Amino acid sequence: MRMVDVIHKKREGEALTQEEIAFVIQEYTHGGAPDYQMSAFLMATFLNGMTNEEISYLTSAMVESGDRVDLSAIEGVKVDKHSTGGVGDKISLIVGPVVASLGIPVAKMSGRGLGHTGGTVDKLESIPGFQIELSSEAFIQAVNTNKIAIVGQSGNLAPADKKMYALRDVTATVDSIPLIASSIMSKKIASGADAIVLDVKIGSGAFMKTVEDARVLARTMVDIGNRLNRKTIAMITDMEQPLGREIGNANEIREALEVLRGTGDAELTEVAVAVAAYMIMLGTGDTDYEAARNKVKDVILSGQAVEAFRRFVASQGGDARVVDHPELLPTARYSFEVAAVETGYVSRINAEQIGIAAMLLGAGRAKKEDSIDYAVGLTLNKKIGDKVAPGESICTIHANREDVREVEAMIRGAYAIAEAKPAPLQLIYDVIV
Ligand code: URA
Repeated sequence: MRMVDVIHKKREGEALTQEEIAFVIQEYTHGGAPDYQMSAFLMATFLNGMTNEEISYLTSAMVESGDRVDLSAIEGVKVDKHSTGGVGDKISLIVGPVVASLGIPVAKMSGRGLGHTGGTVDKLESIPGFQIELSSEAFIQAVNTNKIAIVGQSGNLAPADKKMYALRDVTATVDSIPLIASSIMSKKIASGADAIVLDVKIGSGAFMKTVEDARVLARTMVDIGNRLNRKTIAMITDMEQPLGREIGNANEIREALEVLRGTGDAELTEVAVAVAAYMIMLGTGDTDYEAARNKVKDVILSGQAVEAFRRFVASQGGDARVVDHPELLPTARYSFEVAAVETGYVSRINAEQIGIAAMLLGAGRAKKEDSIDYAVGLTLNKKIGDKVAPGESICTIHANREDVREVEAMIRGAYAIAEAKPAPLQLIYDVIV
């Protein structure tokens, strides 16, 4: 088989066989095919698409390109959860302990943040002492003991995806549904999940800008999961504005704790309860969504969810006193209020711009090598639909420097104020099973 023939076939819009797709991925991963041939293959795929069958072959080939995490020593159905990325998305920090407190094992590998989106392991590292690197044995033991462990991505998982993603970034082939779907699902499958809840975000802070595109991506990933024997549910949820009110690493741990105590932001709580309910349904095999939601609410009200968070933090070396004393988390030296100048209602908050403003403060990374300041971030005092009057604070900037003019300008640019109250945003657009 020759790369050029497979590229030609895809260029002509024909469907590839499993052998052809496996050949392309193996050749590229092991250096037998150069970047220029893979670039041509990616562009042909971008332009001509793939059938769902081809996408599942591509996903399998990417999984086979590297190691697989073996979670067989953990009892029960291992349910993973993945978000396509957003601003203020601290859902994993909430649903992990909730699901664990119901006895369903959460053995999760999470990524670091890049650009305007944050990463779960960065947020966890804002807890003094928290270790995101555990040996495989310690990881499995932590899950068997506490039903939850969250670690950074390690090992050689789906190396084909890593190489292909770097190439897609510079060949204008990132936003292709077959390529996004196979990239996400290959990593989830390689990390050992039996079942997966996908949270596909749409809106100003997300990859997918419309519900229609998000539905196609969600359906494609659910189909891959079904073909590869992983029970998969995809939710389509809002990222038109940041999720919750806090952005920044320590800030988001504080806000997650509020939700776990039952006193958190209502919209964030609603999305978290729904994600946790679907995870429980996959973990137990029960099909009653309302019953699963009630279980989530019960463990929050009874304090079991917050206790699961406490055990989880302690088992990974973190200072569990932060649960009762969030003031022990890193705190920024300065805070500044961004005051409204007009009367009206918040009609838009560009989530990507808010994410970039937080990154400029030091809460995120512009480049992979950048370090993070865990203490800095933003508190959104007004969200879409809230009334504002001149002088009222729309946002608090938590900074470790005095000059925040650029950040403030960015926040002002992200907010739009209108005379009329906007229609409420939908939080959950669809659920695809
Ligand atoms: N996230 C991924 O992991 N891969 C993509 O291609 C896009 C988003």
